[in-house]
Order: sequence, then C-alpha cells, then structure tokens
Amino acid sequence: MHLSEKPLIPEAVIQERVNELAKEVSHDFAGHDLLVVSVLKGAMIFAADFVRRLDLKAKLEFARVKSYVGTESSGKLDFMHLPEEPITGKYVLLVEDILDTGRTAAALRAHFEAEQPARLAFCTLLDKPATRVVPVTAEYVGFSVEDRFVVGYGLDCDEHYRHLPDIWTLEPDEETPSN
Ligand code: XMP
Ligand code: MG
Repeated sequence: MHLSEKPLIPEAVIQERVNELAKEVSHDFAGHDLLVVSVLKGAMIFAADFVRRLDLKAKLEFARVKSYVGTESSGKLDFMHLPEEPITGKYVLLVEDILDTGRTAAALRAHFEAEQPARLAFCTLLDKPATRVVPVTAEYVGFSVEDRFVVGYGLDCDEHYRHLPDIWTLEPDEETPSN
C-alpha cells in the first residue's frame, strides 16, 4: 500500500473545519464545564487541536479502545484505558478519529451512558457512513468520506502515518508482471 498522489483533505482545510467544530461545541455547551474524552490513539492529534480552540472550561481525559489490526476490523473491542475522572453528572464529549462500522462508537456510547452523564455527545473528525454496520451517529462530524482507508492527522496503518499533517488515502500497489 502507498499514499495517494495528493492529500484527500489538506492541512488548511482540516484546521478550518476543526475551528468550526470547536465553535459549534462551545456554543452548544455554553455555561457548562466540558469533559472531553479523546479516544486513543487515532484522535489524539485532532483532540489536541480541537481543545485548544474551545471557548469553555474543559478537562481532557483519554480512553483507549483497540479494535483494528492493519486495515481490517478484528471485530473485537478491548477497553485498555478509561478516564480517571468520574463521568456521572458531567457534560461529556467523546472525540474520535473516524466512525467506520460504528462498533467502537456504539461500545463507547454504551459504556459512558451507563455512567449517567448529564449529557453525552460524540464528535468525530471523519465519518464513513457507507460502511456502517451498527446504527450509530455522531452529533459533530468533521468530514464525510467515501469507503477508502485513510491515514494521517492521527490515523494510522499499522502505526505508520499518524504524524502527517494532511489526511491521505492508502492505495494498493500495482502488480508488476513477473515476466
Ligand atoms: P469502527 O469500525 O469500530 O472503527 O467504527 C473505528 C476505528 O477503526 C479505525 N479505522 C480506521 N483507521 N483509517 C484508519 O487509520 C481508516 O480508514 C479507518 N477506518 C476505521 C479507527 O481507529 C477507528 O477508531
Ligand atoms: Mg487505527
């Protein structure tokens, strides 16, 4: 697999959209302290940019869920880290990198809703609505993308490409004839 020739979403476009999302969330949660829960590792770069643009009192926590091996869903979810801060009665925003089958988001929502927050909302940088298996939606979506594997700006393929400032698609390598 190799990176597409050009970025799918250039850095400047991502940054502009992150600004808009932070503005929208700041408006919707005005007057409340926000507990932002960033889902590791993929959402860390998005969350880092996003929280710095919030016009609210906010705390930052992390959750770690592992669901993917390579570019295919392993179908299995492990909660490896959960926030130290109690969730009950709080205004909670879950921040994810991408909504794909929806399994991760559904498991996260169920877990956090069971703790009875005052309000729970989901913010995802990317949404792939075409690949949804579990019916789950996000209140805040950065960009809707087609069913292509995307990397960069926190998103990885086997831990590579997370550090890239733009978002790219991964393309299969062309087969070269052997004779
Ligand atoms: P589900 O299928 O549970 O997937 O909605 C959510 C998690 O799967 C990873 N994922 C991707 N990671 N490029 C990536 O780098 C992709 O195109 C992609 N699709 C799914 C991601 O970690 C997400 O949290
Ligand atoms: Mg990943």
